Amino acid sequence: MKRIAVVTSGGDAPGMNACIRAVYRAGIYSGVEVYGIRRGYAGMIDGDMFKIDRRDVGNIIHLGGTILGTSRSEEFRTPEGRQKAADQLLDKEIDGLILIGGDGSFKGGNFLSEETGIPVIAIPGTIDNDIVGTDFSIGFDTAVNIALESIDRIRDTAISHGRLFFVEVMGHTSSFIAFEAGIAGGAAHLVLHDGHQEVEELCSHLQTLFTRGKHHAIVVVAEGDQPGCSFGIAKTVSSRIEMESRVCVLGHTQRGGSPTSRDRVLAAKLGVCAVNALIDGKGGMMVGEVMREVVFQPISEVVGKQRETDPRMAILSRILTGY
Ligand code: F6P
Repeated sequence: MKRIAVVTSGGDAPGMNACIRAVYRAGIYSGVEVYGIRRGYAGMIDGDMFKIDRRDVGNIIHLGGTILGTSRSEEFRTPEGRQKAADQLLDKEIDGLILIGGDGSFKGGNFLSEETGIPVIAIPGTIDNDIVGTDFSIGFDTAVNIALESIDRIRDTAISHGRLFFVEVMGHTSSFIAFEAGIAGGAAHLVLHDGHQEVEELCSHLQTLFTRGKHHAIVVVAEGDQPGCSFGIAKTVSSRIEMESRVCVLGHTQRGGSPTSRDRVLAAKLGVCAVNALIDGKGGMMVGEVMREVVFQPISEVVGKQRETDPRMAILSRILTGY
């Protein structure tokens, strides 16, 4: 292994830069050149890559986003697109690829690895934390903390005005951010991805809380596959329980900003282990962390699976939301 490349793909996540830095430093430590691919798979297809220099990764550890840029490439979903990308890697004599991204990116990376034999090590980098085979993905902890800070701020207004607030968090079809931010933020109710139908239960729970004397409430809503769904929920609930409400969709604010220490350390650990794995001859694997131990699993076994939230979290939230 003389030369490897690193690419960030799909939605950016805080901590990706810390991971790129770790990949570069681990490569140099072992005498391997590291190339950076710009603009995700789109840049790979175009051969948009450069040899990373020490200065490129200086002062990036605290930065959100990805210095390499990213994309969701339609062309890479096709075998022809992936072949073009593989040709570019072979042309630059890249012996192995480190991919930082989420499930969609892993699918593409797995095809690339299987179709062309290029060794790929995937690192979970997504705020959604929905990847099977790792307890946490890079960016999740930061996103939860951003959501939490927003909930704390909204609480001031909720209390001052005696209002009902619906705070919608990201996560696509996974409810991990909603669970953690909701529990940590003292939400009165969590509307999870699969719970969008449960408006009746939400209304009766809020009604009970208000009858008991509560005069404000924060409901955390997981966006599910319909971002903006909280507007409809708020309208229905407000009219049923006759209480004014406001909606705040946190959206992409959760994806930006400086990564937390947990995300930086996870990024560093997985980045270094990914490089070592390529050097050791591994390919087609994802590196993750389970119970604080670094683990490797075939990408083919983790892609396309819906990671379920721990059922104990649901019980916890029920107890804490005052049922
Ligand atoms: O996968 C990360 C994520 O932020 C999801 O939580 C969200 O649904 C989606 O990406 C938004 O994607 P885009 O930035 O392409 O709108």
